[in-house]
Amino acid sequence: MVVIYPGSFDPVTYGHLDIIDRCSKKFSKVIVAVLNNKSKKNLFTVEERVELLKKTLEGYDNVEVDTFSGLLVDYLKQKNCSTVVRGLRAVSDFEYEMQMALVNKKLEEDMETLFMVSSGKYAYLSSSIVKEVALFGGNISCFVPEVVEKSLLEKIHGGKK
Ligand code: COA
Repeated sequence: MVVIYPGSFDPVTYGHLDIIDRCSKKFSKVIVAVLNNKSKKNLFTVEERVELLKKTLEGYDNVEVDTFSGLLVDYLKQKNCSTVVRGLRAVSDFEYEMQMALVNKKLEEDMETLFMVSSGKYAYLSSSIVKEVALFGGNISCFVPEVVEKSLLEKIHGGKK
């Protein structure tokens, strides 16, 4: 089965990679779909976010990185896929995720949302937290792969820690 794992990935963290890695073992193909949303203020451009994901996911034969804009249900149709995976980190994610899943279902009856529970060690992670720690000079090597850490430090401090 082909599944789509959508998100902003600004930038990708070990929390996202945990979900992608586990999906790659359960499904025949995983399409990581980066939302190209001009109205959301992202630190990385969509091209940069894709590039970081591609570099980080180099070893995976059944994982593809793509971008989408507009409605997720339209992107799914375009990909001929009807299953989305979302990670659940904590109870606080549930309400928002439930709302999105139900709206998507209303828009497209055939669409299913599968929830994968995040590994406990990443349950506290988010892209904003990583950006904040980096901004104030904290060590982010336990949150993101080296290539992401480098790009983030470059963006925030011009390469200087
Ligand atoms: N590990 C670590 N962090 C995670 C995570 C995980 N497993 N899963 C989510 N997160 C974090 C992200 O880093 C992000 O953190 P931030 O807010 O600090 O940046 C946050 O949780 C939100 O995650 P993300 O998965 O990027 O969700 P999103 O809300 O930005 O986007 C889409 C979700 C893309 C699926 C949704 O906005 C969408 O489908 N948009 C298209 C428009 C549409 O169809 N709308 C109608 C449906 S509601």
